[in-house]
Amino acid sequence: MSIAEKFATMEYGPAPEDPKEAAAWLDRHERRFGHFINGAWQKPSAGGYFDTVDPSNGEKLAAAAQGSAADVDAAVKAARAASPKWQTLTPHARARYLYAIARQVQKHSRLFAVLETMDNGKPIRESRDIDIPLVARHFYHHAGWAQLLEQEFPDYVACGVVGQIIPWNFPLLMLAWKIAPALATGNTVVLKPAEFTPLTALLFAEICQEVSLPAGVVNIVTGDGATGEALVKHPDVDKIAFTGSTEVGRAIRAATAPSHKRLSLELGGKSPFIVFEDADLDSTVEGLVDGIWFNQGQVCCAGSRLLVQESVTEVLIAKVRDRMSSLRIGPPLDKAIDIGPIVARVQLDRIRRLVDQGVAEGATCWQPQIVLPSRGFYYPPTLLSNVHPTSIVAQQEIFGPVLATMTFRTPKEAVELANNTVYGLAACVWSESINVALHTAAQLKAGVVWVNCTNLFDASCGFGGYRESGYGREGGREGLIEYLEPKWFKSAPALRAPKAPESARSERLADSSVPAIDRTVKLYIGGKQARPDSGYSMEVRGSDGRLLGEAPLGNRKDIRNAVEAARKAESWAKATAHTRAQVLYYSAENLSQRRDEIAQRLAAVVGEKQAAAEVQVGIERIFSYAAWADKFDGAVHNPPFRSIAIAMHEAIGTVGIICPTEAPLLGFLSLVMPALAMGNTIIAIPSEQYPLITGDLYQLFDTSDLPGGAVNIVSGYASQLLKTLAEHDDVDAIWCFGDESQAAAAKSASIGNLKQVFTNEGRAIDWFNHKVAEGRWFLQRATQVKNIWVPYGE
Ligand code: NAI
Repeated sequence: MSIAEKFATMEYGPAPEDPKEAAAWLDRHERRFGHFINGAWQKPSAGGYFDTVDPSNGEKLAAAAQGSAADVDAAVKAARAASPKWQTLTPHARARYLYAIARQVQKHSRLFAVLETMDNGKPIRESRDIDIPLVARHFYHHAGWAQLLEQEFPDYVACGVVGQIIPWNFPLLMLAWKIAPALATGNTVVLKPAEFTPLTALLFAEICQEVSLPAGVVNIVTGDGATGEALVKHPDVDKIAFTGSTEVGRAIRAATAPSHKRLSLELGGKSPFIVFEDADLDSTVEGLVDGIWFNQGQVCCAGSRLLVQESVTEVLIAKVRDRMSSLRIGPPLDKAIDIGPIVARVQLDRIRRLVDQGVAEGATCWQPQIVLPSRGFYYPPTLLSNVHPTSIVAQQEIFGPVLATMTFRTPKEAVELANNTVYGLAACVWSESINVALHTAAQLKAGVVWVNCTNLFDASCGFGGYRESGYGREGGREGLIEYLEPKWFKSAPALRAPKAPESARSERLADSSVPAIDRTVKLYIGGKQARPDSGYSMEVRGSDGRLLGEAPLGNRKDIRNAVEAARKAESWAKATAHTRAQVLYYSAENLSQRRDEIAQRLAAVVGEKQAAAEVQVGIERIFSYAAWADKFDGAVHNPPFRSIAIAMHEAIGTVGIICPTEAPLLGFLSLVMPALAMGNTIIAIPSEQYPLITGDLYQLFDTSDLPGGAVNIVSGYASQLLKTLAEHDDVDAIWCFGDESQAAAAKSASIGNLKQVFTNEGRAIDWFNHKVAEGRWFLQRATQVKNIWVPYGE
């Protein structure tokens, strides 16, 4: 036998990691755990215990407490009580705690890795070399942020008490992603681990004790979805951070809608893995192994849709099959194992069901001849080809080691296929041409794009989704801001907005002629004045009850037309930042020229003084956002690999804006201008108190070279139009600056496509104060961060 032949036939011997220490730790706790509340272990008040099992053999590892509403309440109370002291610690003192946690994680890293593998089933190679080192890195990095917080975020404060709910696929890593930024920014935490994998969170609780973290700063309550729900609904929680399925994300959005809770959601994905014909195919195959077979494919950003350029499909697929045949599947504590078991039987059944359905829909299923262990929840690596883009296996998250393959001919087709999903978490692009790769990356709707690499994560780089993959980022500066609020906003008083005079609400047919009407304006859609579909208008009266004119009453159809026009206004979305700045400057100039007549009309509603100030500050506000247009740029992160991660600020897309009632001109400009400056297209509902402002605004936009459709204005009753806008699937974000009930309505109506929602939470904003009413707080909401990872070196 030649050496080459010998090499090919060589078998790995078993190389099991010893679970002795982990077993001893479980035994020390008599294999039964309570909750970690207020710095101590507490028995469950009602719910009893549930078992957590080893998915490689189905055997029970331990019992954990099922958290009841009373347990959650006790944990929230402890977190609330700990909050003032934790917030007022010096940044350095908080940094020392985070640093101590990082050190302890490193010290116990093997125990953590073994326990994680036993509870979750992921190969020890992954928990030892990826999960746990990243956990330590996360706490180190955020110890740094704690230290720098006051210098870098001087006008911000912590949200307060944060409820965090995490999934089972990266149990300790998700805990670190949640707890490290929360603590660094001065929040206290109640965290609920997933019911399949509570153990490493409980070991982490011990570390909190070891480093003498003040009692109540971190509380861990175990349990299932009902425990999570109790946390989400608890009235004294200020923010919910969730990672898990899109379905539960929607339920959480609905449950938090009537409250002021901040929300960040990291949800599912169906990420494309795009291979161009000039890619280095051998590297691509290795990338694919990490992309879809890492963690048994139970990864929210798994590259589960392989999109290959037709010319290389055959050769790539042959290489992939070859590589799949050499993947080792078996007990995850074996150090030479590539693929371990699926986390639980229910997940295994789900994978089987989805694959069967894909095959029934016409996909061809290929699996290597690998013998699966006789016990445990194993599923073989699977390749589906001939997959139709509308098939369930191309659209739904399978969360297993299953790759669905499709082909494309041109780069344009690749982008269309890649974006043909409701999700937008991650994407991979493989090409040796940096131009092709970056041009493609720019067009992908995804929060993370890996160029010639895959599944790289780092504490310094934001991670999170576009579209139905959720909102908010975890990691880096962009993740930190999710746990902070502007100081002024936290203490802002409730809004007492003027209601439109009763008479303004009387509806009438627009064309019935009434004498003494001063002014009739129209809707503004697609750069043109448009009559309302209803044919009705509303009378607008001044503060003295005098009839000032008529404004159209927009309805659902008008909103739909406006959304269509906004979607089509691509030239604005694609315009350079410099061009956008020029258009904004020009509109400020035009407002300046017409300042007296506009102020004079506005004065009839808000008084002369406010009217003059609205125009003056309005001009300044437009100038500010013209200035920002080409300055609110991203960053280049430096993860500890031979890569850079380019954090781009991209527009959200189409934004529906309910403008404040109380400052008809300035309120409109304060919201529309930041969104416009960042390249969004807009449907705005102007102040109900003075919708006639629309007439002045469209004259302004018409004379300022703004492309038709970039801003559309539909006047009418805000509460009715808000619902249509928030439910519209082609609208990407809703900004609603009215009273509390409108804020709640905006959140609950936006659940369908999980729009980003930005509201004043019913609080008053002093639109005349540039320190609060303009700048980064608004620009952040007008953009989403896309991290493009580019490796360098050989
Ligand atoms: P899940 O979304 O139900 O569970 C995630 C976490 O949410 C767990 O801690 C769970 O106890 C909690 N939870 C469940 N219902 C809740 C509620 N109503 N309120 C508050 N918290 C609640 O995910 P599950 O059922 O474990 O997996 C189902 C599918 O979800 C997977 O097949 C996969 O497609 C997807 N998933 C996606 C993840 C991601 O990272 N994007 C992670 C886990 C699952």
